[in-house]
Amino acid sequence: MTTMAKARILVTRHLPPEVESRLDRDFAASLNVSDRIMSTAEIAEKSKAFDGLLITPMDPCRKELIDALPASIRMIATFSVGTDHIDIPAARAKGIAVANTPDVLTDATADIALLLILGAARGAIWGDRMVRENKWLAPSPTFPLGHDVSGRRLGIYGMGRIGQAVAKRATAFGMTLHYHNRKPVTADLSHGATYHPALDGMLPHCDFLSVNCASTAETRDSINARAIGLLPDGAIVVNSARGDIVNDEALIAALKSGKLAAAGLDVFKGEPSINPGYRKFDNVFMLPHLGSATKNTRIAMGMRAVDNLAAFFKGERPRDLLTGA
Ligand code: DGY
Repeated sequence: MTTMAKARILVTRHLPPEVESRLDRDFAASLNVSDRIMSTAEIAEKSKAFDGLLITPMDPCRKELIDALPASIRMIATFSVGTDHIDIPAARAKGIAVANTPDVLTDATADIALLLILGAARGAIWGDRMVRENKWLAPSPTFPLGHDVSGRRLGIYGMGRIGQAVAKRATAFGMTLHYHNRKPVTADLSHGATYHPALDGMLPHCDFLSVNCASTAETRDSINARAIGLLPDGAIVVNSARGDIVNDEALIAALKSGKLAAAGLDVFKGEPSINPGYRKFDNVFMLPHLGSATKNTRIAMGMRAVDNLAAFFKGERPRDLLTGA
């Protein structure tokens, strides 16, 4: 009886221990327990001894890296639902399979979107500061005041799984829902939201705008000065998708002018380095990309990525295959 050699997987970052144990058991895996960040050149060089890569959104997998990968690499599994860090056409051209981890982070990410809405509207930052810095000295009926969430209009930009989960939660707050998506979703998935075929058509109806679309050539920089100008005065923008969908300068200018009442940001262009302009505002509630950051969600993401690798190297079609095989 012959035993099949285990597939060799290069894991670029430290993953939850449960996931690393499984990788260790089922693959010839090179783990990165010290979580040392590898350069593109290092990943390309190391890949020569591997059949597959398990990467994260922190490892840009652009054409330069994909072109430099050896022929032994047949699959890239990413520990994320987002795939904007991977040049999928380049992988496709090279016959490399790519899979992501949808579904398992939907609820956690939608929870963060609601946290951003509530935190931005109700003054989580300035409120916390008042208490923490001992500035809660003279409570007044008129100061400080936040903004209502209940009964207001929420526009969801991107009605995929996460957008739908945001819609479901927002109905519990009595919000009136609108959404823009490339295509309308079925009534059971829209939670009563009104469909707008064009983003511009939705923006004037948004007291709150929640960015939940993928970062693509079409959506990048789409929340720019022009788009913000279409929002009602005093609107609130929250982003739990990708930082590069929002134009930082335009958002900062709108906060400065008072066009926007507040913002809630879990993601930033160029993160973890962020536009320093945001730090000046007490009405900008910011988190360090916590969308999927719960223990159970991160384990589930890792297991899903490993399921995809396991299926592929068994000769089956991975559940979350985006290209290849
Ligand atoms: C994803 O999976 O794309 C998330 O943004 C990572 O937290």
